[in-house]
Amino acid sequence: MLGTLVVALSIALVSYGQSSTDDEPIPGDYSGALRPQIHYSPPVGFMNDPNGMFLDADGTYHLYYQYNPTEIVAGNQHWGHATSQDLYHWTNQKIAIAPSGAEGEGIFSGSAVIDVNNTSGFFPNQTDGVVAIYTLNTNTAQTQDIAYSVDGGYTFTKYENNPVIDVNSTQFRDPKVLWYSAEDGTGWWSMVVAHAQDFVLTFYTSPNLREWTFASNFSHVGLLGLQWECPNLVTMPVEGTDETMYLLFLSINPGAPLGGSISQYYPGYFNGTHFTPVDGVTRLSDFAKDNYAGQFFYGIPEDQPAVSIAWASNWQYTEAVPTGAEGWRSSMSLPRLNTLKNVTRVGWDLVSKPYDLSPLFDGEPLAQNENLGNGQVVVDYSNVTSGAVYFQANLTGIPTDGSSTGTLNFTFYSSVSGENITGGFFLDGDTPFWIDRGSIRGFDNFWFTDKFLTNNLLLGGTGNWSLEAVVDRTLLEVFLADGERSGTVSFFPEERLDGLVVGTNGLNEGIEVSLVVRGLESAWADEEVGGGNGTVLGNVTTSA
Ligand code: FRU
Repeated sequence: MLGTLVVALSIALVSYGQSSTDDEPIPGDYSGALRPQIHYSPPVGFMNDPNGMFLDADGTYHLYYQYNPTEIVAGNQHWGHATSQDLYHWTNQKIAIAPSGAEGEGIFSGSAVIDVNNTSGFFPNQTDGVVAIYTLNTNTAQTQDIAYSVDGGYTFTKYENNPVIDVNSTQFRDPKVLWYSAEDGTGWWSMVVAHAQDFVLTFYTSPNLREWTFASNFSHVGLLGLQWECPNLVTMPVEGTDETMYLLFLSINPGAPLGGSISQYYPGYFNGTHFTPVDGVTRLSDFAKDNYAGQFFYGIPEDQPAVSIAWASNWQYTEAVPTGAEGWRSSMSLPRLNTLKNVTRVGWDLVSKPYDLSPLFDGEPLAQNENLGNGQVVVDYSNVTSGAVYFQANLTGIPTDGSSTGTLNFTFYSSVSGENITGGFFLDGDTPFWIDRGSIRGFDNFWFTDKFLTNNLLLGGTGNWSLEAVVDRTLLEVFLADGERSGTVSFFPEERLDGLVVGTNGLNEGIEVSLVVRGLESAWADEEVGGGNGTVLGNVTTSA
């Protein structure tokens, strides 16, 4: 098996070597046992942060990402590129931005905007010009640079007067730019960028994306960890109102409480120059260990949920995970819909739910139960060839006076090896929801800790609780309480998982549990050439 994979990898790398002009997408084999089938992963090589995500006027989502196309560890950073209409079926595009080749140079993380009004002057005859704003990393500095695209984001030209911001630092990176509309009808570009080791986010303003003026600093709020990276700033709707609010998002690595990489966020107010958080609370966006450097798509209307994608890994072990034997490393998280909600006792909370999964639904549900009561459902999904499964359990009628009891548990397992990943929820007050990946045996690493938990407040709540879960060969994502909490967990089994048990036990009388389990179709299978040998070529026609 390993021999075949190594051969496949060398073929992929050789064929990349042949297209040395970077004029074609890199082919990839998406058939490997560890390859997620509904999540984005790169054709070959190493991927980390999502970058520059935007939705264009034709309804195409553009995802760029930190990419080393020639090795399965970080280094030699490029911006890889993929496009999608539904955020699940991706078309690999050719590399969007490449380093010059100078020793130590990398195109680091950043963002992209559509310069509809040609404020930059790069786009005299069009309204769909794209400007990418990224960090140029060299052996001696990190500067903020820009590149522009006149073909809708497929090819970029680096600005001749780069850098646009240089503060003589080696720890200054990951610019996020958005358009700020002031109340008097004027507007300007705002940037937030991290001084990683000072725990400072700096805001700049610009009329044209080329000249930037210092506006304010935001520092030492919430968790510090050891470095602040990948800030994002976005508006999103407030649930139950027609208001919107700003969310400042920030990633920490290293230094997460569970080790390595994690992200925190601050709901708050932004006036185009200064950000003010609603309070001093530290809020983490994920309760497990594999959700980092999340970004929000530029170009989503403000009154609609913000759409995000994160990197589903952790710097502590990402360069060691066994997908390297298949020639690639790292996946993105599911695309998520995000709103803000004022939750009882907790206060402002980032709500994240899976983006519409229905384009992947594979026929009728594998199981459906209107009221499970205290019972159990066992689903053999060995005939779901993608290995990707979704389930949703909704609990209603939960006592909110503190008397609720019982548990809801799930186990995804391999009928061959007995490996399993489990999770569950205790309803008796303040005990947690937990996930355990410790019985999966394909990866052993000191930092690859196996148990995660989050607390839920049922007391004084609505009497409802829900769990949505997606499993996809090597990823599990859960969304609790209508998206009030989420957890992203990578795992690497020796044998593919092919069964699911969902069970309840000891629930108070009157609690009703509805359950639906669905198989999901592979988003990559349709793109494979030659009848399922796994090779995906990407967009070879447009870029030829
Ligand atoms: C975060 C990060 C960014 C940097 C990029 C380099 O994962 O360290 O700060 O721009 O990765 O690939």
